[in-house]
Amino acid sequence: GLIRKPAAFISTISDERGQELMYAGMRISDVFKEDIGIGGVISLLWFKRRLPPYATKFIEMILQLTADHGPAVSGAMNAIITARAGKDLISCLVAGLLTIGDRFGGALDGAAKEFTRGLSSGQTPREFVDSMRKANKLIPGIGHKIKSKTNPDLRVTLVVDYVKKHFPQHKTLDYALAVEDVTTQKSNTLILNVDGAIAVSFCDLLYGSGAFTEEEAAEYLELGVLNGLFVLGRSIGLSAHVIDQRRLRLGLYRRE
Ligand code: LMR
Repeated sequence: GLIRKPAAFISTISDERGQELMYAGMRISDVFKEDIGIGGVISLLWFKRRLPPYATKFIEMILQLTADHGPAVSGAMNAIITARAGKDLISCLVAGLLTIGDRFGGALDGAAKEFTRGLSSGQTPREFVDSMRKANKLIPGIGHKIKSKTNPDLRVTLVVDYVKKHFPQHKTLDYALAVEDVTTQKSNTLILNVDGAIAVSFCDLLYGSGAFTEEEAAEYLELGVLNGLFVLGRSIGLSAHVIDQRRLRLGLYRRE
């Protein structure tokens, strides 16, 4: 009769067995009663805890800032070409998402890891840059194809201003900005990019919000949750490009 089969896997974030769906112990009706927003839902499901309002607002800011960056970027182009080949929404979305990686939109976890390492090991920004060069590694979160010191990325400015105004501490962000001072001396386009700015700010949230122990903060960095923020945000824009192409009723794309 009502006997449930033994669990084949373990999950600790949500529960649909009772009368009400629960997100990390919070009833779905309370999610709305307390108006925790999508930032609140992400904090429950990704981090299994409520985060302070400035943090959930920051998560929402990230999703809004990364939602789209025009049709010319790798992800959007792939989604557009796939849409024009007449494929379904999910195929187009996945085609776009598959471009996300070290060079496009997927530098967040790497940036968080490298900047945290540099900062905690006491390297000056100059030493950090030199050590990366010596190891023949690109600095994740530094550099943009077209944005530069003279053509700044306003998304980065918005992140920096928000974090400086609302976060209790922003050591990693300050460190990354000091690294940017070093790298932009070499080339104007070696700015702290949007991935990098979000990533280092998230480190400051993990370590400075009081919502995580040091071990938990380190564990989340190790688990690699930050690229998920860009993936989630950009899925909004990729879907939008697919809808747009369908609306335009353009045929199969072929390069002239
Ligand atoms: C983006 O958000 O897609 C980018 O910063 C990449 C780009 O080249 O604009």
